[in-house]
Amino acid sequence: MTGLHPERLLGKVVVVTGAAAGQGAAETEALTREGARVIATDVTEAPGCRRLDVTSEKDWAELASELEESYGQVHGLVNNAGITWRARLDDVSPTDMARVHAVNVTGPLLGIQHLTPLMRPGASIVNVGSSAALTAHYPVAYTTSKWALRGLSKTAAMELGPRGIRVNTIHPGFIETDMTACAAPAFRESNILGTPLGRTGSVQEVSPLVVFLLSDDASFITGADIPVDGGLTAHGGAKPISDAVRRQPVPEAGAVRP
Ligand code: NAI
Repeated sequence: MTGLHPERLLGKVVVVTGAAAGQGAAETEALTREGARVIATDVTEAPGCRRLDVTSEKDWAELASELEESYGQVHGLVNNAGITWRARLDDVSPTDMARVHAVNVTGPLLGIQHLTPLMRPGASIVNVGSSAALTAHYPVAYTTSKWALRGLSKTAAMELGPRGIRVNTIHPGFIETDMTACAAPAFRESNILGTPLGRTGSVQEVSPLVVFLLSDDASFITGADIPVDGGLTAHGGAKPISDAVRRQPVPEAGAVRP
């Protein structure tokens, strides 16, 4: 996706949340390479990152007034910051639910509320969902938060469309970052087994999609859910069946094929 249109985002002011590490850092790098003026933000201190806790209305209000003063407008927002909590149905607590939803749902909502007043027609918002927002998944707080984020994205696409602002959601599968490094080995192995491409993904395989959605090349795309998951969610549970049948001996001529 790079190379054909050098600096597709030249001069565009783009805010990325959760940019200190993982996908946010890779998105910041890719957007900067395409000419964007990226305001990288994170709740943790990191070189090149402005501190912003996505759950804090005060932080968003301060950022919005700084951006208004410095640039007068904002062209893009990547709601990338997110946390997981792998408690299952029997042991997830209301506190876990509230904490995860505050970052993964209220955070993007606050970003949209505070930055869209600075956006003009042509602006673009990318929300980072998850394959967990397309299927069932065992970490309850995380799964419900990412499904809620999809709902927010659809509503925002509808409400902001008349103002020429696009809102799309990307759904990464298993991507190699700190978030997945702390998962159980069985989590990684079963993800690979369930993924038609047979491997995990890298942050560099997600960021080109973010660049595309922020660019004018995506000018008629809004309200979309786009998986970046090696096919994990495309088979809807059929892959283990297909794999099992493939392993069966070939039937003799005339026999019913399984
Ligand atoms: P990561 O854990 O490497 O990075 C997340 C970043 O968000 C960190 O720098 C962290 O400090 C920041 N953050 C956490 N709470 C914050 C807050 N309240 N305010 C501002 N920043 C905060 O994780 P990764 O993998 O880069 O995740 C990025 C996004 O991708 C998240 O929304 C995550 O849910 C999503 N995702 C990740 C997948 C994966 O396999 N790694 C799969 C599907 C979705």
